[in-house]
Amino acid sequence: MTESLRIEDLAPLGDGISPSEKGRIYVDRTLPGDVVTARVHKAGGMLRGDLLAVVEPSPHRVQAPCAHYDICGGCTLQHASEAFYRDWKTGVVRTALARQGLAPELWHDPVFLPAATRRRATFAAVRKKDRVTLGYFRRRSHAVADIASCLTADPALMALRDKLSRPLAPLLTEKPADIFIQMVGGGAEVVITGPLGRKGVPDLQVYEAAAEIAHGLGINRIAWRAREQDAPDVLLEVTPLIAMFGALSVALPPLAFLQPTKAGEDALAAAVMAALPASGTFADLFAGCGTFTGPMLARGSVDAFENAALAVRALDKAKGTAPVTAVRRDLFRDPVEGKRYDAVVFDPPRLGAEAQSKALAVSDVPRVVGVSCNPVTFARDARILVEGGYRLESVRVVDQFIWSHHVELVGVFSR
Ligand SMILES: C[S@@+](CC[C@H](N)C(=O)[O-])C[C@H]1O[C@@H](n2cnc3c(N)ncnc32)[C@H](O)[C@@H]1O
Repeated sequence: MTESLRIEDLAPLGDGISPSEKGRIYVDRTLPGDVVTARVHKAGGMLRGDLLAVVEPSPHRVQAPCAHYDICGGCTLQHASEAFYRDWKTGVVRTALARQGLAPELWHDPVFLPAATRRRATFAAVRKKDRVTLGYFRRRSHAVADIASCLTADPALMALRDKLSRPLAPLLTEKPADIFIQMVGGGAEVVITGPLGRKGVPDLQVYEAAAEIAHGLGINRIAWRAREQDAPDVLLEVTPLIAMFGALSVALPPLAFLQPTKAGEDALAAAVMAALPASGTFADLFAGCGTFTGPMLARGSVDAFENAALAVRALDKAKGTAPVTAVRRDLFRDPVEGKRYDAVVFDPPRLGAEAQSKALAVSDVPRVVGVSCNPVTFARDARILVEGGYRLESVRVVDQFIWSHHVELVGVFSR
């Protein structure tokens, strides 16, 4: 049914909200103050409005800078003015904390990273004869759009994507596949997810084609997995893909977690380091491949805890000026007590670090630094720490996912 709607608010995923007698109607690509017409329907137990026209634009509305904005499923907030966008992003963190009855003693100035910096991206591959389209999914669809340019991605990543479209054709089948590209330290890796070769798995022709691509395009490594839940197999590694974290040199395993932008990694690491004492014994929890472990080693000894076996192995073999103690541990089930540390850093996945926060809440660690990509779970964990006697000293918002609803933060606690 087509309805005229006034948008009053923005939901955490960036959709506009129009209150109605039937309940909230969520309309994407809208802003508070917009009056729109939308086709309203039920989807996934909620009311959705598909935007038909903006009748009266919100004062915060601007022309989206990307030519593909209307069809691409990537960005969600390009149609908002910079001032509104920045306010909204910091507001998401403020609101999440306020809902837990919390506010930091100090809000540091937020850091907003610019466009054209994203160093990792996954493209949907569609092969037609001798050419592969590496596109993004269309908005709310499984159809792939041939997006010629992307304003968020590092131009070097997009250039490599373009160069891959012909040489990948002999490897892929006509079934869907994903191509992940990650650029780091001047190098690049490609991970293919989906069927390959004549029988769906790598054969001699696939290995030969992968070697030609890697050597021809200067790619460090090409890896493959049949499905998303599988661990990738390396098809070919020309040279290791090295990341430098402080003075620590880490040979990354395939599909290693890295912060999505180098500038974002630097901003988060700077905020973490600013909160740590000049020397001491530290723990880096949910350490990944050592993004924070590396810089922390310049201040003292670091025990790095992480559950991903390949990341732990990479940290174990990492080269630097001081050794890392890398420990494989599931911190959801078996949190670290914290007793012996002068400071603990934790940077969990979106689910947060509930069990770990409960363990720290009864510890006597003087300083805890939380890094988070989910303000809601961070606020829940912060409350656990505060109820355990910590003060939430400061929070810094870091936005390295420009034009998306995602936001990161660094929170500093002390007792
Ligand atoms: C947001 S990433 C942060 C990684 C690293 N701190 C960085 O900035 O690159 C979260 C990390 O938590 C790890 N992880 C997920 N679940 C875990 C668990 N139950 N126990 C320990 N580590 C876990 C993931 O493998 C991932 O490396």
